[in-house]
Amino acid sequence: MSAANSMATDESLLHDLVGGLSLPGPDATVSVGIVGSRAHPPQPPAHCLRACLGGDPNAIATHGCAFLKAAAAGTAAAGSLPEGRCEKGYRAAAQQTVLGGGAAILCTLEGAQHAGMPQLGGADLIRHLDAVSRLVQGVDRILAENAGFADEVLQNYEQLNLIFDLTQQIAQVTDVVEIERILIQRVARLVEAERACIVTPADEYHAYEVAGESISCAAEPPQLPVAQLRELVDGIRHTRQVQVSAAGNWQVIAGPLVRLDDSVHVIIAARQSGAHAFTAGDMMALESVLAFGGQIISNSELHERLRRMSMEVTRALVAAIDKKDHYTSGHSERGGFLARLTAQEMGLPVSELQNIEWAGLLHDVGKIGIPEDILCKPGKLTNEEFDVIKQHPRMGYEILQPIGSFQMVLDGVLYHHEYPDGSGYPEGLVGDEIPVVARIIHVVDTFDALTSTRSYRKAFSIEKACDIIREDKGTRIDAEAAEAFFRALETYMTTEPEDFTARFPCASEHSDDR
Ligand SMILES: [Fe+2]
Repeated sequence: MSAANSMATDESLLHDLVGGLSLPGPDATVSVGIVGSRAHPPQPPAHCLRACLGGDPNAIATHGCAFLKAAAAGTAAAGSLPEGRCEKGYRAAAQQTVLGGGAAILCTLEGAQHAGMPQLGGADLIRHLDAVSRLVQGVDRILAENAGFADEVLQNYEQLNLIFDLTQQIAQVTDVVEIERILIQRVARLVEAERACIVTPADEYHAYEVAGESISCAAEPPQLPVAQLRELVDGIRHTRQVQVSAAGNWQVIAGPLVRLDDSVHVIIAARQSGAHAFTAGDMMALESVLAFGGQIISNSELHERLRRMSMEVTRALVAAIDKKDHYTSGHSERGGFLARLTAQEMGLPVSELQNIEWAGLLHDVGKIGIPEDILCKPGKLTNEEFDVIKQHPRMGYEILQPIGSFQMVLDGVLYHHEYPDGSGYPEGLVGDEIPVVARIIHVVDTFDALTSTRSYRKAFSIEKACDIIREDKGTRIDAEAAEAFFRALETYMTTEPEDFTARFPCASEHSDDR
C-alpha cells in the first residue's frame, strides 16, 4: 500500500467517524459534519442537507446556506446566526479544528423533525462540538502515528520481500561470481541505490550500474574521494559493521561480506543525494542481507572445495588402478572426459553431465579385483581368463554401491559392457534396457581401447577406430550414442587440437592393422 493510499484511507476513516456521530434517519435531531478546506472537502451534516437542501451537496453553492458558506470560508462561529438559528429555523454552530495537519470546520445542526422532540440549546451545541472536536482530533493524531508505523512496516515488508527473493534466487546458483552479482543487484534495490561496487581483499574494485532488474559493469566506483573511500573500506574491514557516509552528491552505505577464509569483501551502494539519507532500517537490512550472502558464498566455496577434493582423490585412486595395466594408463580419465562431451552432444541435462563424467572416470574401478597376470596378459586370453575379466563391472558396482555419494554412477559402472544386441555382460540387457550413461561409456571406452597401443598391437588411427565403431553400430554399440560421439569428437579435435593431442598421444603413433 502506498503512503498516498494510506492518507486517503485515513481521510475516509475520519469522515466515517464524523458520519457515525450523526444521527441519521427521519427523526434525527442533531448531526455533525466537516466543512473544510481543499484537504477536507465540504461535507455538511447529512441531516442538514436532507432536511434543508434536499440531499444535494452541490445545493450549498447554488441555493446557498449562509451559515454553511460562512463555515466553509472559516468565518462562521457560534453566535454568528441570529438567535443561533439558520434561516430555515435550525439551530447551528461551527468550530474550527485541525485535521490531517490542515484547517477544517466542524459544524453541527439541530432541528426537530416533528413537534415534541426535545431540542438542545445553543450552549449544548457548542459543548457537543467541543466533545466531537477532541474526539476527532484524537483519532486524527492516532491515524498520523499509525501512518508512520505503516510506512515503517511497509518498508520492512518490502525489504523482507527482497531478502526472500534473494534466498530463492541464490538457492539455485552455485557459482560464487554469479552469487556476488545477484547479491549486489539485490543490495542496490534494497537501499534504492544507482551504483554499487565490491572491493576485494586485494583492493580490486568491481563497479556496477544498477537500474531495476538490470545490472551492468560501471567504469567507476561511487564518486567518493579516494581518501574517504579508503577510510570507509578500512573501517568496515576492521569493525565488520555496516556504515553510512556521504560526499558531494552521493549518499553511501557499505558493509562487509565475510567469506569462508575470513577475508572481508566490502560492498558499497550509493545514490545521488536529494533522496533521503540512509536510515537505521537500511543499515539493518543491509547487515542481514550481507550476513546471509556471506553464509551462502561460504557454503558454495566449501561445497566447491569438497567437490574438488573428492574429484582429486577419486582421480588419484583411478590413476592407481590404471597403472596396473601400463598399456591403459589414463584410460579412465579420458573415458570420463569423452563421456561428458558425448552426453553434452546428446542434449542430456546439464545437471547430469557431472554424474556421467564421474561414471566414465570410475567405470573400470572393478579391475582392481582382477589378478594382474590376467589383466596385463600380453597374449590372447583363454575363455576362463576372459570370464574373470568379465567380472570387473560387477566388482566395480560392489565396491561403489555402499558409498552413498556414488549412487549416480552405479548404472554406468555395472552396465558399460552391455551391447544393444544382448550379447554383452554381465546381464545381457538389450537396446533401451541399457541405461543411456552405460551406452555412452561403452562407446568412449571402445574408442579409447582402439586408439591405445596394447602389448599385441599398436594404436589404431582416429579414422580407423571410428570406422570400427561404425561397423558395430546397432549390434555391439548404441547407434545414437555413437553418432553423438562422432560429432563431439569432431568438434573437440577441430576446436582444441593441442588439447586433443595431449590427451590422446597414442593416436599419433597408430597402426591401422586390426
Ligand atoms: Fe570395462
